[in-house]
Amino acid sequence: MSRLESFIRRMSAQRDILDDLAGRLDAVPGPILEIGFGNGRTYDHLRQRFPGRRILVFESVVVPDLPFLPPPEDLLVGDVRDTARHLPDAGAALVHADIESGLADRDDGLGHWLPALVARLLAPGGFAASGCPLPHPRLAPHPLPPGVPAGRYFVARRLPGPG
Ligand SMILES: C[S@@+](CC[C@H](N)C(=O)[O-])C[C@H]1O[C@@H](n2cnc3c(N)ncnc32)[C@H](O)[C@@H]1O
Repeated sequence: MSRLESFIRRMSAQRDILDDLAGRLDAVPGPILEIGFGNGRTYDHLRQRFPGRRILVFESVVVPDLPFLPPPEDLLVGDVRDTARHLPDAGAALVHADIESGLADRDDGLGHWLPALVARLLAPGGFAASGCPLPHPRLAPHPLPPGVPAGRYFVARRLPGPG
């Protein structure tokens, strides 16, 4: 498979998962946390699929002159490990994390901190969608929507109890 095909399949999985979660989030209060703004493509999708839901965006490097950005109060610039520090525990309905670089030595390190951060921020019953696995005792793998093969993108649900 070419890198282009791999990218397309990954983005299709991301879109299909977020569309599937749009029908599941109504009972879970709280904002959506979008970790990794990039060019804002996923942010644009989220704001269309979850109208009326606040979306807080975390990005270490914001590209200037993008056609749209989140409102300034919803854009937290810096490493999410720092900028999410002030957020309350168990307050988010959905965390979407798309922060892989494609560089194995860098991405391998995500497992040391991202699952714990997501588990802390998610409300009980809230969902996480991520480009990498989120192994954590408080996060249960959630079934993928039909047509999304295992291992391409990951969905988890926050179990009840403290983070
Ligand atoms: C794959 S891109 C995200 C693409 C995005 N979903 C879109 O629609 O364009 C990953 C982004 O995550 C950001 N990022 C990586 N590590 C981060 C961190 N620790 N904190 C905040 N942002 C981070 C990078 O700067 C990059 O813009």
